[in-house]
Amino acid sequence: MLKKKLKQEQEENLQNSMPKEEVEILRKKNIKELIAPSGIDASNIDYLRIISNTTRYARSFFVSSLPRMCAFPELFRDMYLFGDTNTSIYINPVPEAKSQNELNRVINQLETERLVAADRGNINRESVITQKRVEAEGLRDQIAAGFNKLFEASIITTLFAYNLQSLDAYTKMLSTEMSKSLVGVKTAWAMQEEAYKSNVPLMKNEIQKKHTFDRNSMATVFPFTTSEVGHLTGIPLGFNKQTGVPILFDNFHSSLTNYNMVIFAKSGAGKSVTMKTLISRSAVLMGIESLALDAEGEYSVVAEALGGINVVLRTNISNSNKFI
Ligand SMILES: Nc1ncnc2c1ncn2[C@@H]1O[C@H](COP(=O)(O)OP(=O)(O)OP(=O)(O)O)[C@@H](O)[C@H]1O
Ligand SMILES: [Mg+2]
Repeated sequence: MLKKKLKQEQEENLQNSMPKEEVEILRKKNIKELIAPSGIDASNIDYLRIISNTTRYARSFFVSSLPRMCAFPELFRDMYLFGDTNTSIYINPVPEAKSQNELNRVINQLETERLVAADRGNINRESVITQKRVEAEGLRDQIAAGFNKLFEASIITTLFAYNLQSLDAYTKMLSTEMSKSLVGVKTAWAMQEEAYKSNVPLMKNEIQKKHTFDRNSMATVFPFTTSEVGHLTGIPLGFNKQTGVPILFDNFHSSLTNYNMVIFAKSGAGKSVTMKTLISRSAVLMGIESLALDAEGEYSVVAEALGGINVVLRTNISNSNKFI
């Protein structure tokens, strides 16, 4: 008891001997406290309000339907590249005995359905079911031989925006993008808190919406692509609309096989503006000189602004400007 008191006194003395502010800061240095927002309002049915210096809105989704076939590595590419999102995928291997039982049950069920269809003379349905049964048997045999394996996976994604209008617009865009590859995403309605928690790195899946994958289709969910476009050096061209990261372009970057470039777009899309931006920023930032063969005279203003010259070429004059 006495020892404890002594120790306490020693600690207090130590704290008092330190400057006051330092003690305060030391107490606050907790990583969770540093990164945590002021609060999260989970009272809304289909979004969360993350309250901090800047308030953000988050909406979580789960994948509700998948295509029958998927191509590597396309399955969730649009989801991974979709701007400010976090995606979690929980993968659980299905034990072999369980998958064999399950597949045998499916095969029996399909066979029963096939017999009923055959009895009724429904040839189309009979052939569709036969095809499914053959596929299920093939999968069962592959698993038995150790060539394949079944997995159960939950896919959850959270979308962030700075206001509700943007959040709604992004939600629409995301479901449209995903439907192109026949992936259905649904808002985790009335489960936003659970879905959000499932999407932070705590390894806790609170949304148990599972899909069955075989080994090949499971491989298609891994993101082997990057959302970065442009180069690490060069001139700023604009911002990535989804991530907000500046896009740099370097026409002489070592990753390019040559320096040629062509810009295609419909009339009025901004080709000339892009070209003029490239020319002027290259001149100012990298000291690159450009030469424009300009039939319409639209680059003369750029040349003048950058301290360049305009040379007029004509066919019908006899001075030194007669090049053609
Ligand atoms: N990034 C941009 N932001 C705002 N306005 C832009 C942008 N890019 C182009 N514009 C505007 O769009 C209009 C058409 O641009 P521009 O003349 O570059 O198109 P274009 O593709 O060269 O068309 P055309 O083929 O008819 O020459 C211009 O008025 C331009 O100011
Ligand atoms: Mg033009």
